[in-house]
Amino acid sequence: MNILLIGNGAREHALAEALVRGGGTVCAYMSKMNPGIAKLCQGKVEIGSLTNFSAISEFGEKNQVKFAVVGPEAPLAVGLADALQAQDIPVVGPTIECAQLESSKIFARNLLKKYEIESNIEFEIFQSLEGIADFVTKIGKEHVVVKPDGLTGGKGVKVWGDHLHSEEDIMKYCQEILDQNGRIVIEEKLEGEEFTYICFVDGEHVLGTPIVQDNKRAYNGDTGPNTGGMGSYSMANHLMPFINSGDVEYARQQMELVVKAVAQETKEVYKGFLYGQFMKTPKGIKVVEFNIRFGDPEAMNILPILESNFVDICTQIIEGNLHGPLKFSEKATVCKYLVPEGYPVSPKANAKIMVDEDKIDSLGAKLYYASINEEEGILYTSTSRAIAVLGIADTIEEAENIAEKATQAIEGSLFHRTDIGTTAVIEKRTQHMVDILDHL
Ligand code: AMP
Ligand code: GLY
Repeated sequence: MNILLIGNGAREHALAEALVRGGGTVCAYMSKMNPGIAKLCQGKVEIGSLTNFSAISEFGEKNQVKFAVVGPEAPLAVGLADALQAQDIPVVGPTIECAQLESSKIFARNLLKKYEIESNIEFEIFQSLEGIADFVTKIGKEHVVVKPDGLTGGKGVKVWGDHLHSEEDIMKYCQEILDQNGRIVIEEKLEGEEFTYICFVDGEHVLGTPIVQDNKRAYNGDTGPNTGGMGSYSMANHLMPFINSGDVEYARQQMELVVKAVAQETKEVYKGFLYGQFMKTPKGIKVVEFNIRFGDPEAMNILPILESNFVDICTQIIEGNLHGPLKFSEKATVCKYLVPEGYPVSPKANAKIMVDEDKIDSLGAKLYYASINEEEGILYTSTSRAIAVLGIADTIEEAENIAEKATQAIEGSLFHRTDIGTTAVIEKRTQHMVDILDHL
């Protein structure tokens, strides 16, 4: 069965691998060559803009694909799924209307409010500075988060204490958003531990995958600027030491309500992957945001341990008869990203990278290419995350050890976080939860 995959990062490398493992023949449409995906596609690739919908559907038609799987949010947010469906190519990925769950934070928060979904938090929308000072006073400036409405690649959110230190900072950032013709969401700052919960959705049924925790800060000890995600981990029992199965089932039910609300609001059904970013807080499990796609790096924690057939899952999503049980192996995973020196502020591009794939294999680790340039067989950095390595093992300690060793098989002007998935970090997060909840 030929399947069209759109995208070219490490997430799509993991999606391609899962589709091939499920018996699919993957044809990839990428904005630039990913050598890992190209290898899995046996040359069935095309390079072009991910918003050139006619080129993408022509490539799909030429390869007589049965359906398409979309990796990134940006093309979905401008209607890729609608365009492919108009050419009779079914899509695992939401339509432009449903994609607003990620592409508009205002749509998402208002939807949760209108349908009285409990995990929503206090927020208000502003189109001018009027009323902002009052709202900030009402919730207390030290509880403020400011977000622009649209897609910002994870870099638009400013949080009190991290990026905002005075009322003046808040007003200045709001003005900056308005200057770019943006609308503003101001919401209550949550205190707790974040977790990622990615579900498969066929419009009605919502099936969950293992819980993952991403690490967004650039440097060890959760310091430095926010990034797209420096690495992530998951535990063998598919939970976190501070997230129990009751928390997960609650989050799943909340997502089920959201999927219903989207259908009522848009008159369209949500099909694809739905990424819930939640925080466990003293007030319960709360929604930080929704993404309309697989996470990156989280895809690397989840898809390689999926034992059910991923092609069958995608087919069920399209046909609307998604059913479990989904099977995942009871393994812990640790994913670490190697990123260019200077990332994310002033990343050093065009630096040579040497990858010892045999060594990575012999360690039992896995390798996923992200944003790199290949010229005459030589790999170079670009300005984004370069390569992800993954350790899978019975325990998180072993998985971390495998991933860390694998980083040593890659040379170049790169750095990574050595603390992701370590016992020390997980214990720190667990203690944080105990401190704010008084219990777990
Ligand atoms: P987002 O792009 O909405 O995921 O935000 C990026 C990051 O900002 C999240 O992963 C959180 O770490 C942080 N963040 C966003 N919203 C909140 C909130 N209401 N309270 C605390 N932190 C938040
Ligand atoms: N891991 C963060 C994201 O995929 O948005």
